[in-house]
Amino acid sequence: MSAENTIDHLLDETRRFAPSPEFAAAAIARPELYEKAEADREGFWAEQSRELLHWHTPFTEVLDWSNPPFAKWFADGELNVAYNCLDRHVEAGNGDRVALLWEGEPGDSRRITYAELTDEVKRLANVLTDLGVGEGDRVALYLPMIPEAVASMLAVARVGAIHSVIFGGFSADSLRSRIDDAGAKLVITADGGWRKGKVSPLKTAVDQALADRGGQGEQATVEHVLVVRRGENEVDWDADRDVWYHDVVPQASAEHEARAFGAESPLFILYTSGTTGKPKGILHTSGGYLTQAAYTHRNVFDLHPETDVYWCTADIGWITGHSYVVYGPLANGATQVLYEGTPEHPEPGRWWDVIEKYGVTIFYTAPTAIRSFMKQGRQIPQARDLSSLRVLGSVGEPINPEAWIWYREVIGAGTTPIVDTWWQTETGAIMVSALPGITETKPGSAQVALPGISIDVVDDAGSPVGNDAGGLLVITEPWPSMLRGIWGDPERYKETYWDKFRDQGYYFAGDGARLDEDGDIWLLGRVDDVMNVSGHRLSTAEIESSLVAHEATAEAAVVGASDETTGQAVVAFVILKENYLKEHGPEGLAQTLRQHVSDQIGAIARPRDIYIVGELPKTRSGKIMRRLLRDVAEGREVGDTTTLADTMVMSTISAQVK
Ligand code: WTA
Repeated sequence: MSAENTIDHLLDETRRFAPSPEFAAAAIARPELYEKAEADREGFWAEQSRELLHWHTPFTEVLDWSNPPFAKWFADGELNVAYNCLDRHVEAGNGDRVALLWEGEPGDSRRITYAELTDEVKRLANVLTDLGVGEGDRVALYLPMIPEAVASMLAVARVGAIHSVIFGGFSADSLRSRIDDAGAKLVITADGGWRKGKVSPLKTAVDQALADRGGQGEQATVEHVLVVRRGENEVDWDADRDVWYHDVVPQASAEHEARAFGAESPLFILYTSGTTGKPKGILHTSGGYLTQAAYTHRNVFDLHPETDVYWCTADIGWITGHSYVVYGPLANGATQVLYEGTPEHPEPGRWWDVIEKYGVTIFYTAPTAIRSFMKQGRQIPQARDLSSLRVLGSVGEPINPEAWIWYREVIGAGTTPIVDTWWQTETGAIMVSALPGITETKPGSAQVALPGISIDVVDDAGSPVGNDAGGLLVITEPWPSMLRGIWGDPERYKETYWDKFRDQGYYFAGDGARLDEDGDIWLLGRVDDVMNVSGHRLSTAEIESSLVAHEATAEAAVVGASDETTGQAVVAFVILKENYLKEHGPEGLAQTLRQHVSDQIGAIARPRDIYIVGELPKTRSGKIMRRLLRDVAEGREVGDTTTLADTMVMSTISAQVK
């Protein structure tokens, strides 16, 4: 292997955690899963699908890959996604089981059973039909984390329409461009939702989005806006267009038969920004998506639906909210917490209060959240009873070993298995993860492809790098929940994901990864973020992990900045822990941290510059935007910041660096 194609690996992590014998004995996923999938991959998926879902018309075909990269799964089967998530649990006698334990940010709460949620969705489906929404129509959802958001997704699915959920933090402009791209007929929104103790006015943003654009007379495709009352804030009203949810849904008939739709009927579009260019409308369809969402949710989280209380903290505006708040858990008949607000309202520790209050057993969140809790200190979670927890999950970024250990020790009482789940909006469901009753876990490694999934790490030419080497993560075989395309742009779909390894027919995920000596997978960050220092390709993730392993550091972001001598030089932006700052202050720390990285990884990785900052630039889903930090490190004008959660952060950082 030449140095150009590989990513050098320098950081060693040797801690290992096997599942306890009791956990392993009661686990849902058995080791035979791997054998079965290995022996007959398509047969394995067919079996999973039949076991986990109800098919109105059973399928006879499994995978049709005759026109790659456009896959069809279970194509001649028919099902109704909402029926699978609702009615069938009621028909099986579980109507009284709680589906949603909803907690509003101000402290109000609602318990909604499967029977009640089914009833609500049936009424709402009738309302959608009355509003002219039918098979194949697009419906945009712009909602807070309230039960009506879940009901809306399911009602859209129930009538065979396609939802496009737009995260409530996006602006009117972003909302409009997504509505236009999909040609949405209906918008479902709320007057407002609670965030950080205030009502964020969603309906106002919808009004702005739908207004004529700059006098160009460009009308939106939207015919109606259905509005849930939540914030009780004042809203403008267009009597021809706007409809209050509470005026029509409770009055609608609760009789609604779930019609069966083809397995490849589109279920949703979800826009993902990517690092450049206009957002891509990632398209997912029904049968394959629901199969893999249900399968992964059950096996990766070890779901025992009769006894577990599951909580995934993701907003429904992200893929994690689609697959692991709505479709996976509800298809599996789980009882779950849905929380409206932010982790620090009314004070830090709110999440731990929610876990204590509802006795959450399975908890799924993101490394960015975990690191911010580390920053606040362990005394906050330690003041709560978290003993109900038995499985912890992580998603969205590489979780550095230090955060992993903290998560297990402080949140998981040093005993819970942690599943670090790698996947993407495009993959629809988890692809790489430990199975909690089987895998001996390694802090920082996402570990192994799930049974039924084929992953490899290859060089630029598509040859496997083999164990103990780094390269590019690829998916070598089609999978049931794969994206079926980019809405309205098949060419872009091919170019973005399939052109790089066209000869091999591999899907290129855009992530760097390494296989260790056991063949376990370590994610190294987006390939666009890889640095090249004196001819060595270094991963941002490893150096960040090393920085965070120092007792002073809460969070770190590393970028490569052009350097006359080394090609690129490592530049680090570091947030310090509050306790450490109070006791020691920041003096001399940059030098200490440089030495620390040098000791841990090697002199090659020693940061040229370390900047102590108060915040890092993040997207609304919590991913660090290293592109912007590179601009600062190289002394350039900072680029496009519109996708930042907080656009002020970059000016603060620029000022601090100067
Ligand atoms: C990153 C989120 C390391 C990765 C479900 C991927 C991860 C991108 C992990 C997709 C993980 C997600 N370890 N990196 N466990 N999970 N990523 O579309 O770079 O919001 O390509 O989907 O997040 O982000 P997306």
